[in-house]
Amino acid sequence: MRNEKGSLIRPVPLPGSASRPVVTPLSPSVVYASDTPDMLDGQYEGKLHGYTYSREGHPNADVVAGLLDRMENAPNPGVVTSSGMAAVSAVLLGLLKSGDHVIGGNQLYGRSLRMMAEDLPRLGIETTLADPGDVDAVRAALRPETRMILVEVVSNPTLRVADMKGLAKLAKEAGVLLVVDNTFTTPRAYQPFEHGADIVIHSVTKLLAGHSDVMLGYVAARDAAINTRLRVFTVTAGMTPSPFDCWLAERGMLSFDLRFERCQTTAMKLADALAGFSGVKRVIYPARTDHPDHARAADLLQGRWCNMVSFELDGGRDAANAFTTAAEGLSFAPTLGDVGTTLSHPASSSHRALTAERRASLGMSEGFFRVSVGLEDPDALVAIFERAVAAAVKG
Ligand SMILES: Cc1ncc(COP(=O)(O)O)c(C=O)c1O
Repeated sequence: MRNEKGSLIRPVPLPGSASRPVVTPLSPSVVYASDTPDMLDGQYEGKLHGYTYSREGHPNADVVAGLLDRMENAPNPGVVTSSGMAAVSAVLLGLLKSGDHVIGGNQLYGRSLRMMAEDLPRLGIETTLADPGDVDAVRAALRPETRMILVEVVSNPTLRVADMKGLAKLAKEAGVLLVVDNTFTTPRAYQPFEHGADIVIHSVTKLLAGHSDVMLGYVAARDAAINTRLRVFTVTAGMTPSPFDCWLAERGMLSFDLRFERCQTTAMKLADALAGFSGVKRVIYPARTDHPDHARAADLLQGRWCNMVSFELDGGRDAANAFTTAAEGLSFAPTLGDVGTTLSHPASSSHRALTAERRASLGMSEGFFRVSVGLEDPDALVAIFERAVAAAVKG
């Protein structure tokens, strides 16, 4: 169709093709046109499948959610959100009300902790933090108003492993929702729905998407009504991700299984190598028999572990500075799950707001690092760490 000046205006017809694209097309359209009011009615009433307005849903979001549903064996179709924190927020803000109480793992991701400490109390929702590795401590925190328990399977950055079997049993007995943030473990190592979780959350931003170029989250619930409430809340609150972000996430997720296997094999090799370097005080990796929760991790993760390794250098902040300066080729950046190995130093980043005493009680000294292992050649990666630890020891 042409306007008076002859320039093209909508609708521009799409070229037809007897063949179909191999790659999911990117659909950036914010709005979708219907042929008739009856057809639009049919869509709103759920009699016809179709899109209307992209905050309500779009093809790229549905493709990514469908992939995640399959990976997690989700009982109901989950929804993708504009970040992992949007997924956490959808659960906490979309399901809880004033007067409710929620128990959170005491080593949740920092922003989740912040929401528990600051935002929920402001809305009249009470919170208690407890060690998810200690079911008795979680049981002791239960109240008649408790509605949910929110935990991560492997804690960040100390890589402690929650007692998922005990928590699932407790949540069921107490009639509260067990919400599992499965970001660190990923569905390749652990599928929470198979083990009693009621809601599963992901920061897809991390290893699932895997390239540090997209922020995305995911949430799905076992109960159909709760699942619908979550979907509706994410739409109302404007948490729907952009089509391009979904498109990037899908592209990353297609190689997730391969990346996971490679990263965790290298992580194991790196952990063992670090344990033999002089100047390394301790190494934390759940596959190692010296990990405090090794037996539980072996039972839960069935040999799949994770791509995260934490370790502690002798020598405090000076050694930490020397180490990062010498760790050439590695990004010193507070993220995880990238194709490249990244280093995080909790005392100067994610846990800087805590007092030194509190950090020490969690086992995080100035020499503590968390490593997100990437796809580098394993021997070359170990060699970089060996040189950097030697530089830290020299000071
Ligand atoms: C375990 C965990 N959950 C949630 C989040 C939040 O995800 P996002 O950064 O995509 O908002 C993160 C971020 O690092 C995380 O590590």
